[in-house]
Amino acid sequence: MTKQLLAGEVALVTGAAGDLGAVFARALAEAGASVVLADLNGSKAETEAEELQNEGLQAFGVAMDVTSEESVADAFERSMSRFGTVTILVNAAALMKEIPTMDPLALDLTWWNRVMDVNLTGPLRTIRAAVPHMQALGRGKIVNVSSGGAFIPSGVYGVSKLGLVSLTTSLAKQLGSSGINVNALAPGHMNTSSGHEARHHDDALVAALSHAVALKTLGEAKDLVGGLLFLCSSQSDWVTGQTLSIDGGWIMRL
Ligand SMILES: NC(=O)c1ccc[n+]([C@@H]2O[C@H](COP(=O)([O-])OP(=O)(O)OC[C@H]3O[C@@H](n4cnc5c(N)ncnc54)[C@H](O)[C@@H]3O)[C@@H](O)[C@H]2O)c1
Repeated sequence: MTKQLLAGEVALVTGAAGDLGAVFARALAEAGASVVLADLNGSKAETEAEELQNEGLQAFGVAMDVTSEESVADAFERSMSRFGTVTILVNAAALMKEIPTMDPLALDLTWWNRVMDVNLTGPLRTIRAAVPHMQALGRGKIVNVSSGGAFIPSGVYGVSKLGLVSLTTSLAKQLGSSGINVNALAPGHMNTSSGHEARHHDDALVAALSHAVALKTLGEAKDLVGGLLFLCSSQSDWVTGQTLSIDGGWIMRL
């Protein structure tokens, strides 16, 4: 990937210690951005950032709990003192594999509220923290990581991820005049350890899911990178409020 694509940009990625978040952070850094890797697991975020630093890339790891306004503000403050601004925000932090059951009728409501707090209100908290900085610059790119699960019945997870699609459109409408693009990415079934855990390592299920998509395979994290870089770069300057499905041809919306 050309290093010029995101030269001079500063990206903050939440969930950057996760299977996809770490790949997203690396891709943004390799494209020339300075990257803040933020995660509830601050030590893993720092380790991931150190790996990038060792390769001469600009990266910084920070602990951030997206369910706490205070923690989000603190992480943004630390990012600002390190890199001075934020021009790209990627919201990848979420609960998925941890959710005991997706069934709204069976799920304890404490869990229901926790999923909404992390997967839906979490991105809103980070967006609220990022927007003043982007407005001061008159530009910015926000990418919310939703899921193909938003568009099929998939319980609490799907509700949270469809909510994120809706939030994306509302904020795109509101922030367009500030030069801020707000889009979402909807990955499909991924060949990641988190994806396998969420599917309870059920090989028969994996075979059925792969068969159900047009391209007949699960996706690799690298398959999402082109779409991510598109939505984070000037190449998508006239694209906002959209959800880009990258899923091997699983969800086909007309
Ligand atoms: N992997 C898949 O199969 C798949 C498919 C579709 C969509 N997605 C979405 O992609 C994104 C990344 O998924 P992943 O596979 O990397 O998952 P993952 O479980 O590997 O990573 C999620 C990360 O979020 C962090 N996190 C959890 N709660 C947090 C909080 N309160 N504050 C800050 N960080 C918190 C975790 O520590 C973890 O590092 C998620 O939004 C997920 O819903 C994943």
